Amino acid sequence: MKTSRRLKKRTVCVTINDIVLPGYTNIYNTLFGGKLMEMVDKAAAICATRYCHKSVVTASVEAVDFHIPIKAGYFVELFAKVIYVGTSSMMIRVHVRGEEPLSGKSEHCCTAFVNMVAIDRTGKAVSVPELVVETDEEKKDMEEALKIRQSTLARKKKERN
Ligand SMILES: CC(C)(COP(=O)(O)OP(=O)(O)OC[C@H]1O[C@@H](n2cnc3c(N)ncnc32)[C@H](O)[C@@H]1OP(=O)(O)O)[C@@H](O)C(=O)NCCC(=O)NCCS
Repeated sequence: MKTSRRLKKRTVCVTINDIVLPGYTNIYNTLFGGKLMEMVDKAAAICATRYCHKSVVTASVEAVDFHIPIKAGYFVELFAKVIYVGTSSMMIRVHVRGEEPLSGKSEHCCTAFVNMVAIDRTGKAVSVPELVVETDEEKKDMEEALKIRQSTLARKKKERN
């Protein structure tokens, strides 16, 4: 993989809004987990692509926590942020909030960490710009990402053995 003279870049954030339509729900009339995962994956893919301006694929999704169900008719807000960048991989944290449309009251409902990898036309991993980490918040994000990355790599190693 070509890694010489990589560009450096600030993080990228993406916010996406959607609404829980009847076709999105489970038997409890709340947002189906698989549908939420699709929204999370899309938000992460847009965020990673905007960061590196290359084609990206989802390599893995780590540490997804569904805290609170999101009811039918509620708005769903997904806030995606690049929090770690390796050579070709990018970790995107996606925070999800559910909002009651009439009151505007919203709650944090889910967090997911998505590993995206930039690829070339042949599907081979290619390098992306280095992430600039300067502020306290960026440093905290990076620490959080590194812990998750460690467990991803350990899991991958275990799978190989
Ligand atoms: C993701 C993919 C390109 C990685 O290919 P690979 O041959 O393992 O590539 P490499 O070993 O060179 O690793 C490339 C990077 O991906 C990371 N990576 C690979 N598998 C990973 C995983 N499961 N989770 C997190 N990161 C992963 C590596 O850590 C490495 O990161 P770095 O460059 O920042 O150090 C390949 O596995 C793939 O195409 N998977 C299918 C993706 C897909 O179809 N997704 C669903 C639709 S988008």
